[in-house]
Amino acid sequence: MSRFLMTRTLDENSAEAALGADVLRGLTSEPKTLPPKWFYDTRGSELFEQITRLPEYYPTRAEREILLARASEIAAASGARTLVELGSGSSEKTRHLIEAMPALDLYVPVDVSASALEGAAETLLAEHPGLRVHALLADFTRPLELPESPGPRLVLFLGGTIGNLLPGERAGFLKAVRAMLSPGDALLLGTDLVKDEATLVAAYDDAAGVTAEFNRNVLAVIDRELDADFHAADFDHVAVWDREREWIEMRLRARHDLSVKIRALDLVVPFAAGEEIRTEVSAKFRQDGVRAELAAAGLELTEWWTDAAGRFALSLATAA
Ligand code: SAH
Ligand code: TRP
Repeated sequence: MSRFLMTRTLDENSAEAALGADVLRGLTSEPKTLPPKWFYDTRGSELFEQITRLPEYYPTRAEREILLARASEIAAASGARTLVELGSGSSEKTRHLIEAMPALDLYVPVDVSASALEGAAETLLAEHPGLRVHALLADFTRPLELPESPGPRLVLFLGGTIGNLLPGERAGFLKAVRAMLSPGDALLLGTDLVKDEATLVAAYDDAAGVTAEFNRNVLAVIDRELDADFHAADFDHVAVWDREREWIEMRLRARHDLSVKIRALDLVVPFAAGEEIRTEVSAKFRQDGVRAELAAAGLELTEWWTDAAGRFALSLATAA
């Protein structure tokens, strides 16, 4: 019996239709916005992996430090036989946790990037001969159909990806996660923490320009999928810290007046010089805020772990 299965809930046609609807809504609104999940085509997933290795991008290293220090505690606290991971990407850090869980039967990575899911499964299956992997190519903000699997389950949401959802989206998302949990199941949530502005901005505007290329990659996705004529060179990458809302905002700023044809939508989008598209927010958290957001979704924070430098936190939560 094969140990790897991939279920695609996003077929290519519906993904293209969803991209078209998001682009139409986002680029005809004021200010212009684009939802972040469209960054992650094959190239975008590769660029994100490069980001995780940049000297300025501390979140991956900080979260890995916590996972390495706490893997056996997490494994013991959850007793998980099934590990579900939302936005799993390369699953690179998850491997530390899987190594600490010899009784694990099934790993269910969920991502919109088929290339990331395939790469992750290949590595994990080679390393763990007893493990089964059932990947879901799916949007984690939509209702998920999880495979039948033995409990208890541990749901992972790492990388600070929860910060890429807006506050209202976060509330709905956490309620949906709560609904996935049976008694004895748990959620392990990674959140980047509020810190000084210079450190935060550098993490999203690195000297080598990898984050800028990642941000602009969303334009290449729209060009390819919707037959548009964005030119990446017409847009500057901008990362700003919003101290009221405590989030980093990523934008693409038009360098001059221009207009873009999006043929699949029969749409022309004008840009004035300096006009921006908001492509992503990355919210930063404090313990009280995480506890309150979990509680509002019916989840109780049971453990709070940070790295030694206090930059990033992992929270363990169970159904309240
Ligand atoms: N967990 C990994 C990757 C984080 S990057 C880490 O910590 O390094 C965010 C990941 O979430 C990417 O792999 C991206 O493809 C995926 N993603 C983003 N939006 C998504 C959505 N709406 N549904 C499913 N996956 C999504
Ligand atoms: N979850 C990551 C974060 O918020 C995603 C990310 C890192 C990202 N760098 C980025 C998204 C640059 C867009 C642009 O840290």
